[in-house]
Amino acid sequence: MATITFKDDVTGKAVQMPVLEPTHGQSVVDIGKLAKEFGYFTYDPGFMSTASCQSTITYLDGDKGELLYRGYPIEQLAEQCNFLEVCYLLLYGDLPNPEKKKIFEESIIRHDRITEGLRRFFQGFNYDAHPMAMMTAAVSSLSAFYHDRLNIRDYEHRMVTARRLIAKMPTIAAACYKHSIGDPAVYPRDDLSYTGNLLYMMFSRPGKRYEVNPVAERALDVLFTLHADHEQNASTSTVRLAGSSGCNPYAAIAAGIACLWGPAHGGANEAVLRMLDQIGDVKNVDAFMAKVKDKNSGVRLMGFGHRVYKNFDPRARIIKDICHQVLDSFGHDPRLELAMRLEEIALSDSYFIERKLYPNVDFYSGIIYSALKIPVEMFTVMFAIARTSGWISHWMEMVSEPDMKIGRPRQLYVGPVQRNVITLAQRT
Ligand code: ACO
Repeated sequence: MATITFKDDVTGKAVQMPVLEPTHGQSVVDIGKLAKEFGYFTYDPGFMSTASCQSTITYLDGDKGELLYRGYPIEQLAEQCNFLEVCYLLLYGDLPNPEKKKIFEESIIRHDRITEGLRRFFQGFNYDAHPMAMMTAAVSSLSAFYHDRLNIRDYEHRMVTARRLIAKMPTIAAACYKHSIGDPAVYPRDDLSYTGNLLYMMFSRPGKRYEVNPVAERALDVLFTLHADHEQNASTSTVRLAGSSGCNPYAAIAAGIACLWGPAHGGANEAVLRMLDQIGDVKNVDAFMAKVKDKNSGVRLMGFGHRVYKNFDPRARIIKDICHQVLDSFGHDPRLELAMRLEEIALSDSYFIERKLYPNVDFYSGIIYSALKIPVEMFTVMFAIARTSGWISHWMEMVSEPDMKIGRPRQLYVGPVQRNVITLAQRT
């Protein structure tokens, strides 16, 4: 086994630390003994150099622009599988055969309703509550309604909870949307697909016949596959950290949803649409790009750049194709033309080339959602439906480890040293 020697220059003490070899990608130095051997902790804000766990679920290579779920390339999964097959893959480790696929789909249909008590829960929210606020609260409340299978040490309990969550997320999402427009929530239908059902629950109106558009249904399905997992991102790490205390999985997933809500994580596609609206016309693109390259302007090309991808985000290529298909079917959106012009300029401009800035997953997804008449406040909710499959798979992986430990990072304390409390009268 390869090792790396750590040496304390003050004491001269040297200790070898093992280098752990992955099946794919970068090796990792196991520094577990560092504190015991040297009395030092490591300092790595933002986890820039830290692997927080072992995982068998998702692999991504930011330099190559490669993304694999359980070893399968994202391009093949997006083209050949539907989202529920991908959920099965993430949860169980392999793609289902036809029989397992059918059983899984039936179990999702069986669990897609929410209890009437939970439906009434939405009536307590203000009509103008943000859908992410409602979704975070509703998912957290699931443990109050479905507490019959919450033994996290029981594999069957964990699997039932995972299927319940995946099944109920579209129903909860649609209930959030319906509440925000003052419409009654719609019950799911057994004869529709996962994304067909979501569209039906969001857009059907009492007394009106609703036909699911197959282009919209497939586009959403592919978007969900692309957003299903992305290894140890902020929300997934949040789910793992929350879950490491042994809390129930609904609480851990609610923590992940809260984390996703932040603009640095799930909110970028909303920012892309705002940016395109602000540019307004292709004739303004050059002036906008000049601002982006001016460091003093504080303007960024939203939907470009990624902490890990220093090459094309493979999901962006797929999303661009779907964007064309959706707009062919739903009508032209001048924002697509704008986005393509921005991309064209950026990919040939030395500012972006030198900094390895490429379109990310959010560059085109907002245009698709917008064409499907999904309001901007619901974009992150859509992301949460898809990512639930990844979150719960990571939670399952962590909880099934025999030596699961509570996550407890250390700190570099830079506050006051010990001092004595003085009386209230003496304090200035
Ligand atoms: N537009 C213009 N310049 C950029 C952009 C951008 N979108 N992104 C990075 N840069 C520049 C920075 O100014 C910096 O330049 P410098 O070296 O001259 O100072 C350099 O590229 C490196 O940028 P960092 O911010 O250090 O890179 P980091 O990896 O920390 O940031 C991030 C990644 C936050 C995604 C960034 O690229 C960004 O802000 N992009 C726009 C927002 C966005 O699309 N976010 C969605 C990401 S995907 C997701 O979360 C699902």
